[in-house]
Amino acid sequence: MRFGIFCSGGDAPGMNPCLRAIVRSAIAAGHEVVGIRRGYHGLLTEQFYPDSTGEILMGLRSVSNISKLGGTILHSSRSEEFRTEAGLKKAVDVLEKHEIDALIPIGGDGTFRGAVALAQHWDGRIIGCPGTIDNDLIGTDYTIGFSTAVHTAVEALDKLRDTAESHERLFLVEVMGRHSGYIALYTALAGGAEVVALPETETNVPLIVQHLQVLKARGKQSIMIVVAEGDELGGAEVLNEDLKKAGCPFQTRVLTLGHLQRGGSPAPEDRILASRLGTFAVKAIIEGETGAMAGAVKDRLVLTPFTDTFAKHKPVPEELLELLQTLAS
Ligand code: F6P
Repeated sequence: MRFGIFCSGGDAPGMNPCLRAIVRSAIAAGHEVVGIRRGYHGLLTEQFYPDSTGEILMGLRSVSNISKLGGTILHSSRSEEFRTEAGLKKAVDVLEKHEIDALIPIGGDGTFRGAVALAQHWDGRIIGCPGTIDNDLIGTDYTIGFSTAVHTAVEALDKLRDTAESHERLFLVEVMGRHSGYIALYTALAGGAEVVALPETETNVPLIVQHLQVLKARGKQSIMIVVAEGDELGGAEVLNEDLKKAGCPFQTRVLTLGHLQRGGSPAPEDRILASRLGTFAVKAIIEGETGAMAGAVKDRLVLTPFTDTFAKHKPVPEELLELLQTLAS
């Protein structure tokens, strides 16, 4: 069998160890692997990853020493053309031309929506791996890249706490998560933040100010507020203005971490998850599975139909929200 592998959408630390696992497991089982560069766009434009001899098949050595690398050696992109009927048909022609029998896309909900559309035109097998820092996919407890992104954000919070303490200030730190509060909640909990603002919960400015006044009266000298970029009020800058207008008792500063969270060497948890899921995806395809994402739920490897992975919002754990509120005193 010939596998096609690619990364699509926002990159995530851990995509490289996932590629390595796919290449090595497929070759170990006697199959071939074509690395498709730049996601669906690269598929449409026949951009493949050449080995040292210029051949398009990836060899064992083409993934040597990449587990520690952030980003993705295959590059990633978002493609408008692929979403069109003509784009999908062109993709099928390219897959047939290069005799690709199965695809393993690594990405998030946009990538899997693309896979669902492609499956309506192509009868090859497709099993995806969840590569996104957002951890917003149903069918896996954690996505590849989430852990590293949280490590990066917590490191930033720890550093900001030092300067916040010196100047007795409040910092609003905006983290990624267009529709999801996962990164914000985990960062807030691990970094000992006093407040977290998420798309999943109501961000009540008067209540936050009241809480800050109580904390100030108890002798708190610095405050960390972690804001998910998708918070319904509009992000850290907006919340900062609202807090000031409502009588925030601390001097404030704002920092948006942005794409910094998508970079860096993948944390060991992400490397291990990526290796397990990449290999599991290869096995699933060999066993005849298609149309699903490989995930790890309660440490068991499972397949979830693509459409179920993005059909519903993945709720943030209620228990962790309550824990944060108890500890932020
Ligand atoms: O990878 C997902 C994500 O990190 C979102 O949280 C964020 O809104 C988005 O990517 C931004 O991606 P880009 O700037 O690449 O469009």
